[in-house]
Amino acid sequence: MTASSSRRRPTAGVSSGRPVLKVVLPILATIAIVAPLAWLWQASRVPGSYSVMDMGYLDYGGGAMHDPAGGGPGGHMQGHVHHSEPSRLITDLVVDTARPADVRVDLVARQQTLTVGGRSVSGFTVNGTSPGPEIRATQGDLIEVHLRNDSVADGVTLHWHGVDVPNAMDGVAGVTQDAVPIGGEFTYRFVATQAGSFWYHSHQVSNPQVAGGLLGSLVVTPKSGIAQQVDVSAIAHTYGGLRTINGKAEDLRVPVHPGERVRVRVINTDNGPMTIWTNGSYRLLAVDGTDVHQPTAVTGRSVTLTAGARADLEAQVPGDGTAVRIQLSKATAVVIGPQGADVPPPQPDHDLDLLTYGSPTPLGFDPAQATRRFDYLVGRRPGFVKGRPGMWWSINGHLFPNVPMYVVREGDIVVMHIENRSGEVHPMHLHGHHVVVLARNGVAASGSPWWVDSLNVLAKESYDVAFVANNPGIWMDHCHNLKHAAQGMVAHLMYEGFDTPYRIAGPADNQPE
Ligand code: C2O
Ligand code: CU
Repeated sequence: MTASSSRRRPTAGVSSGRPVLKVVLPILATIAIVAPLAWLWQASRVPGSYSVMDMGYLDYGGGAMHDPAGGGPGGHMQGHVHHSEPSRLITDLVVDTARPADVRVDLVARQQTLTVGGRSVSGFTVNGTSPGPEIRATQGDLIEVHLRNDSVADGVTLHWHGVDVPNAMDGVAGVTQDAVPIGGEFTYRFVATQAGSFWYHSHQVSNPQVAGGLLGSLVVTPKSGIAQQVDVSAIAHTYGGLRTINGKAEDLRVPVHPGERVRVRVINTDNGPMTIWTNGSYRLLAVDGTDVHQPTAVTGRSVTLTAGARADLEAQVPGDGTAVRIQLSKATAVVIGPQGADVPPPQPDHDLDLLTYGSPTPLGFDPAQATRRFDYLVGRRPGFVKGRPGMWWSINGHLFPNVPMYVVREGDIVVMHIENRSGEVHPMHLHGHHVVVLARNGVAASGSPWWVDSLNVLAKESYDVAFVANNPGIWMDHCHNLKHAAQGMVAHLMYEGFDTPYRIAGPADNQPE
C-alpha cells in the first residue's frame, strides 16, 4: 500500500519517507559503528578464570609442530594445546626435595605506610622494611625462602628476577603458583647456579606492589670470592615520586680506604630506564648477573640500566683522599671513600655501548643453528584490552590476551627478533633464561657476549637475541615497565609437553600483572 501510493504520489512518498530515513539511517550508522566495537569489546574481555595455556595463539617459530590440533595465528583465546603424549605439570619442576638448604630465609610481606624522605607513602614491606633484607648466598648454594603474607590484601608472590629458577619456583601468580593470601605461606627452593646481582619482587598485582616496594636484592658471590675489597648493593627505587637508594632519599655513603676497590651492584627496580655516571673511571664488571668478558676502564660515558636490570660497577677510591661519586640519577648518588665528592659530576653526552664493550668469547652455542625463530614486534593500536577502549600495546599486531604463546622444546636454539614500533621505550624481560644480544638494528655485537634478562629497547630499535631452551616450563616474556604489562604487554614462552594447574583470576584471584 505504501509502495503503490508512493508510486502514485512520488513527491508525497518522498516527503513521508524522509522522517523514516532520518530515524533509520542514524540507527544503521550507529549499528555499523557499535556492532564491531561491541564485538571487539566482548572479544577483549578475559574470562573470569582461565589457564595461561589458553591465552592467545601458538607460535612455533618455524620449529617442529608437535600439536596438529594447535590453533593458528589470529584466533582469540584459542591456544589450547592438545598433547599427543600426556603432559607434565610444571609443579614437578623443582629442585631435589631431599637436598637440605644452605641458605634459609624467612620473609614476611606486609601492606603498610612507609616513611620515605620524611614523607608518608602507602606501600609494602618485607620483614618490616622496603627494600626487604638482602639475601646473600654463595654460588652453588640451595636457597630456601619461606614467605608469609601478613597483611597484603591482594595476596603476594615472590619472583626471583634474573635467576633461572626451576619453573615451579618462578613466583608468577596464576602461572606457577597461586597468590599467597593473608595468613598464607609458600616456600621457594632453588639453587644459586649463577653468581651475580639479582632481585626479588612480588608478581601478584605486580605494578602497584613493586612500585610500592615489595622487593629486595639477592646477591650470589662466586666460591672464590670477589676481587674487590668492598661489595655494596644500591637498589634504586622511586617511592611516590621520590628517588631513593636502599630506601633512603639521600646519597649512599660508603666509607672506604683510599686505594681500595669497590663493587657497586646497582639494581633498577623502577618502571623506566636510569642513567648511571661517575666522576672518575670505572669498569662495568657485570650486566644482569653475568660477567662482562675483559671489561676495560671507562671514562666520560654513562651506563643505561633498563627497568629490572642490574649493573655491577667497579671503582677504585683515589689515593689522594678524594671520593668516587656514582650518580644513579641527578638526585641520588653512591659516594665511596673518605668525605667529599659532594657535587654531582657533569652527565656525559654518550652511553657506554654494550654492543662493543669488552672482548668476545665463545657463547657456548651456535645461534646460526637456531631451531626456532620468533618475532616480538611491539606496536600500538586502538582497540579494547580487558574491556577498556584505548590505544594499547600490540605484540605482532595483536592485543592482549590474543598474544603469541611461543612454543619451544627442550634443547632448541631460539633466535628472537624484537622490534619496537610503538614510539616508547620498553624493558623486555624473559623469565627463566638469559638471552644474548646478537645484533642491534642489524649491527652485529662485537664485544663481550652481552647476556641480559632485561633489555632496553628504544623506540624504532630492533634487537636480535638468542638463547638455549634449557629450562622447561611456562615463562612470562613481558615488558618490565609494569604499567605496560598491566596494559597487556605480556606474552609467554612455553615448552611443549608441560601444563599448569593454576588459573589466572580464579578462586585465588591471581593477577600476575
Ligand atoms: Cu621482574 Cu615478570 O618480572
Ligand atoms: Cu613497555
